[in-house]
Amino acid sequence: MNAQLLIETAQKLLANDKGLLAMDESNPTCNQRFAKLGIPQTVEARRDYRELIVTTPGLGESISGVILYDETFRQTKRDGTPFLQVLAAAGILPGIKVDTGAKDLAAHPGEKITEGLDGLRERLQAYFQMGARFAKWRAVLAIGDGRPSRSCLEANAHALARYAALCQEAGLLPIIEAEVLMTGSHTLERCRQVTEEVLRNVFIQLNCQRVLLEGIILKPNMVLPGLSSARPQEVKEVAAGEQQYQVRLIDRRPDEIADVSEVADVTMKSLWRTVPAVVPGIAFLSGGQPAELASARLNMMNHRFRAQLPWALTFSFSRAIQQPALDIWLGQEANVVAAQKVLRHRADCNRAACRGEYTAAMA
Ligand code: G3H
Repeated sequence: MNAQLLIETAQKLLANDKGLLAMDESNPTCNQRFAKLGIPQTVEARRDYRELIVTTPGLGESISGVILYDETFRQTKRDGTPFLQVLAAAGILPGIKVDTGAKDLAAHPGEKITEGLDGLRERLQAYFQMGARFAKWRAVLAIGDGRPSRSCLEANAHALARYAALCQEAGLLPIIEAEVLMTGSHTLERCRQVTEEVLRNVFIQLNCQRVLLEGIILKPNMVLPGLSSARPQEVKEVAAGEQQYQVRLIDRRPDEIADVSEVADVTMKSLWRTVPAVVPGIAFLSGGQPAELASARLNMMNHRFRAQLPWALTFSFSRAIQQPALDIWLGQEANVVAAQKVLRHRADCNRAACRGEYTAAMA
């Protein structure tokens, strides 16, 4: 293992308060997002959209690395320039999603295990040869009645650790993504418990598989109440006196109403308890949070705790950077420039959040 290369890659990805852009949606996921907006679900449309992203002027000011899907990794601009070349010119490192998706875990209704270990060593070597410098594998854990089970936690942590060791052998920094889903009626406290248990299991397995912790980036969820959890009491109190405010809050999902400071405090507590100080960086996923809220929560964590943190605290968002741009693009060439401006703006807002300098006015 080339430890120096891995450590240098971590430093490059985490330097100057930049973060990562996840644009590694599989074709079915990308097609689903296109379908919702009436965009054709074709290889050409996916290519056009990815060209819009990688050619966004100034993207490298806030983004240090992008995570690509195999199709996109091999694609070119319309003029034939490989996307990898465009990214290199912008000073952005290319990464690659290498899991093959979360599948039903046998004998565990409602639980998933991420697959993709078969043949992974050879695929990683090939991606390294083509220019990738980091990789991503996503484990998903759902909260529910008796879920996540111990067996699901352990199986996913073990797979993440096997993947990470193989990445490091190939010279690729592994992004360790362990996502506790927002789906469900769980409380913030339950999400905290599960997130801590997931991360404890992950680090036990990473140590067991002899993964160099200095050469990884952790990609966790923020700690949030479930999408269908009970609405906080204060919403009803506000509702009694202020009609306008009532409507605005009641229209929102419970996870959106959760207090930004509380989310920041609880998330930080979970990470302090579970993530070794030697890990160089933590890059959050957005998990379906509205873009502004994801930025506000990341900002609050850095604003309040940055000086005490052993790791860089940054972002590796997909939807919280891309969705506002996708909503503008709608598959129309005429909307490309406007969509790029919004994409760049969200990236810049998140870089500001890494410094604890994001304000609602920026959004
Ligand atoms: O696999 C999921 C991505 O890496 C993060 O996506 O920010 O939309 O949760 P998200």
